[in-house]
Parts: sequence; structure tokens; C-alpha cells
Amino acid sequence: MENIVSASVLGCDLARLGDEADRAARAGAKWLHFDVMDGMFVNNISLGVPLLSSVRKCTQMYVDTHLMICDPIRYIDAFADAGSDNITFHVEAADDPAAVIDKIHSRVSSAGISVKPGTPVSEIEPYISSVELVLVMTVEPGFGGQGFIEETVSKIKQCRELIDRSGKNVRLEVDGGINAETARLCRQAGADTFVSGTYLFNADDMAVAVKTIID
Ligand code: DX5
Ligand code: ZN
Repeated sequence: MENIVSASVLGCDLARLGDEADRAARAGAKWLHFDVMDGMFVNNISLGVPLLSSVRKCTQMYVDTHLMICDPIRYIDAFADAGSDNITFHVEAADDPAAVIDKIHSRVSSAGISVKPGTPVSEIEPYISSVELVLVMTVEPGFGGQGFIEETVSKIKQCRELIDRSGKNVRLEVDGGINAETARLCRQAGADTFVSGTYLFNADDMAVAVKTIID
């Protein structure tokens, strides 16, 4: 599967979001990663439905929505209506992950399931063949600009094995502290989709930064 960079909007100049999305697209990022936080599942509040609707009007990029919210099934319709292409939720936040996956599939073509750094891969194992994307968090969700947690690399490897065993086309995404060095560790462990905020948007040359992540 082609390696993809998903540019995390949280790391850009939000007052110039349209231009920043263009800049990321021109640099070779294929996806735009949109972080949604509710101040409950994580200790921060970030971006919501009205902003995503505005983003949708100003970019053709594939919108990769990352819900860091409690009881995510409540907001699938809203984030689908706002223009998400993929919707990822956290297994820790859902009572019935299978129902959330069904709900996402009723609205958009790609569903993702995510684990925090401390959550074992066994929690998502039953759902891997029902989703299009698995997201292994490589920092504690909630804030951009944190350092990569190396212990998560073994979880990326475990997910790679489970995905390969499933025989399905499931993307393996990593999110948090991704830069040239940490992306290499993740690639070696089997990741193919790389969320990057701080490293990407602060790079002197964003196109070079994209290349260092995917090659
Ligand atoms: C963190 C978010 C990330 C964040 C990544 O909870 O899910 O998407 O924006 O930012 P960096 O690349 O700065 O770690
Ligand atoms: Zn994210």
C-alpha cells in the first residue's frame, strides 16, 4: 500500500486554514487529519463540526477525522455531514465498537479504530477485519507537539501482523510525534499512514518533510 502523509490541522496556523491545507497538498500530503476533542475523553478541546464544514469547502483533500470523544456514535452523522472521508474513533470511548463501525459505514466509506498508547492491541483485534484503518496512537492523545513514545512500536508490529493475517486492505496509521526519525521506526514496524502536525507545518521545506516521512 502507498505510504501517505495525513497533515494534522492542529499543527497549522488555524487562522489561515485554507492556505495551510493548500500548502500541505502542494507539498505532497494526500490526507488532511482533523482532530476532534471533547474535553472529556482527553483533557483538551480542539476542532469541531463548523470548522470541518468550512475546511471541506476549501480543499479537495481526503479528510481523515480523528474523534477523541466519549460515546462517539453520537457524532458520526454530524462529522459525516461536515465532509469527512474517513472517521476514526477510540475503542476506549465506545461501549459497542461494532455498532460504531456499522454507523460509520452507513455514512462514509472508511471507518478507523484507534488505541491509546496504554491500550493493548487485543482490544481492537476483534474489529480489525471490519475496518479500513487502524490508528495506533504514538503519544497520549490530547495535544500536538509531544514526544514519540517508543514503546508503541511493538504495538505497530502487532497490528501489522493482525492486518496481514486478515488478508484485508487495512491502513495502519500512526499519530503523534512523527518526524523523519520516528516515521522510519514506524515504517519498519509496518505503518503506511503517517499523521504529522508540528514537524510538517514547521518544516523549512514541507515537500522535503513529506518525503522524509514516507520514503
Ligand atoms: C494528538 C493528535 C495529533 C496531533 C499530532 O492528540 O491526535 O493528531 O495533532 O501532532 P504532532 O505531529 O505535533 O505530534
Ligand atoms: Zn490525531
